[in-house]
Amino acid sequence: MSRVAVVTGGTRGIGRAISEALKEQGHTVIANYGGNDEKARQFTAETGIAAHKWDVGDHEACLEGCAKVSEEVGPVGIVVNNAGITRDGTLHKMSYDDWHEVMRINLGGCFNMAKACFPGMRERKWGRIVNIGSINGQAGQYGQVNYAAAKSGIHGFTKALAQEGARVGVTVNAIAPGYIDTDMVAAVPEPVLEKIVAKIPVGRLGEAGEIARGVSFLCSEEAGFVTGSTMSINGGQHMY
Ligand code: CAA
Repeated sequence: MSRVAVVTGGTRGIGRAISEALKEQGHTVIANYGGNDEKARQFTAETGIAAHKWDVGDHEACLEGCAKVSEEVGPVGIVVNNAGITRDGTLHKMSYDDWHEVMRINLGGCFNMAKACFPGMRERKWGRIVNIGSINGQAGQYGQVNYAAAKSGIHGFTKALAQEGARVGVTVNAIAPGYIDTDMVAAVPEPVLEKIVAKIPVGRLGEAGEIARGVSFLCSEEAGFVTGSTMSINGGQHMY
């Protein structure tokens, strides 16, 4: 059955692969994005998927953005909370702004989007929420107290909301990607990244499509008994 799916941070990197995979599954996909208008225009031109701009860290913007999506294409049945940023640095160099901005967008964004869409899913007795966590939320990472805390929070958020959704047909799951070949990972200094890749048993970075296929499964009708789970897709780097 075709649903309306909103993918946050859905025009680039892992988010783009998720938007395309859900379209491929027959859903009407809206890709949210936060800043890069040019990349968003290019994405829509190449995929035919509409892109809507709002800041997922802004509560009112999420409520308004999702209400607009519902008016235009119908009630939202699938939400993929993928939008995320890094502001890496060791704690003694990290500013409060670096901490707060990562928490506001990466973790706050999940709350804001769930507030916008979960009530309608409850009423309609069907919904799929997939939150993109991280291996670094599971295992921690040098220079990422902000990001690791936010991603770890996503895993707790997922398990709590899954309990609220279980009786009303709404599943809530997380995917914990490892190091995937995206702009975000490309920003890690080369010598640091080399050491990280050397510790991945599969011996390479992951591909965005490998995360997207996991999301597609969790959003499918057949995955109705899967809730509160975390799917780790990390090439064996952390076996959790
Ligand atoms: N464990 C222990 N020590 C470490 C370390 C580690 N993992 N990494 C670095 N160090 C040490 C260094 O060896 C160095 O020590 P010496 O001075 O004695 O040689 C010291 O810490 C300082 O290291 P840097 O020179 O790298 O310090 P910096 O201030 O220039 O940069 C940093 C620090 C910003 C954290 C940088 O190391 C970095 O970017 N690291 C990568 C962090 C990372 O993996 N981010 C993931 C981004 S992708 C993502 O988050 C997606 C996802 O979900 C997986």
